[in-house]
Amino acid sequence: MNNLAECFEETGKALDYPQFLADVLEGLSKEQKTLPCKYFYDEAGSNIFEQICELEEYYITRTELEILRSAGTEIADEMGEGVTIIEPGSGAGIKVQILLDALLHPRKFIPLEISLDALEASAQELKQKFPRLEIIPHRGDFTDHKDLGNLPLSSDQSERRLVFFPGSTIGNFSRAEAAEVLSNLRFLAGENGSVLLGADLIKDRQRLISAYDDSKGVTADFNKNLLVRINRELSADFDLDEGFEHQAIFNEELSRIEMHLVSTKDQVVRIDGQEITFARDETIHTENSHKYSAELFAEIAREAGLGITHQWTDAQQDFGLFLLKSGL
Ligand code: TRP
Repeated sequence: MNNLAECFEETGKALDYPQFLADVLEGLSKEQKTLPCKYFYDEAGSNIFEQICELEEYYITRTELEILRSAGTEIADEMGEGVTIIEPGSGAGIKVQILLDALLHPRKFIPLEISLDALEASAQELKQKFPRLEIIPHRGDFTDHKDLGNLPLSSDQSERRLVFFPGSTIGNFSRAEAAEVLSNLRFLAGENGSVLLGADLIKDRQRLISAYDDSKGVTADFNKNLLVRINRELSADFDLDEGFEHQAIFNEELSRIEMHLVSTKDQVVRIDGQEITFARDETIHTENSHKYSAELFAEIAREAGLGITHQWTDAQQDFGLFLLKSGL
């Protein structure tokens, strides 16, 4: 318990308001307006995301869970006993439970997460389920070098680390950024460690689009929650009723799903006293989800100094789980 309290005191509670405002204004002043996707995950956003993961159309979560379950023994054999697991962007911490169950006496778990609520809830739950595991929750952003540098990693060479990066999060970065994120993961794993990562694979266009534009409108709510949050936290006046619509398209050239919020009319929005103008049909580009072939993924991993030691997929080859190591 002490670890939890210490970590929260150290890192503070509220999101850094000027930073959030600066990021939002910067994104909305570009030619193609954007908003940084890391702001999706406030408490409401994290809850809606949990619902996305249970949608019929969103095959990603259940497929990854299925692959993880069937690969568990092989992963455990490869990693051996007493592993330290590090999970950047750990969220609700459901997937890691399957990994923890499979591994042989895992020693430590270090979740790194922006959402304080998610971090707190998952740490409590894991403590109950894995009483012998040392849990060291850390609030932070895995794209931030400073936060990565602050992680409580042991300099002890005998610590074997497994960096867990599921959920196709790697797909939310551009190719260049993905190589950088992978090299951060390599840094976290250290020389003897490994990275276990999930990536979504290229498939039928319609299935891809439906996964990001579901019939119940849950993904639409998730996307629009960004505006809800900006209204609340940055005194903005986005018209939440009918000012913006959710849109998911597949960009063939860049092999990615793009999520947008489309302005339904010419309008002016005020954010912390500043005016932002929207033309009708103009969009805010909120997120990308890149879809890979196993070959392309291997190439990007290689750029980051990582080689694939094992890879697993499901019967339909919808999703790939990759185990990577430094310098192969
Ligand atoms: N990593 C997830 C993905 O790309 C995140 C995600 C799923 C997401 N659905 C979303 C992000 C909708 C933004 C909006 O599949």
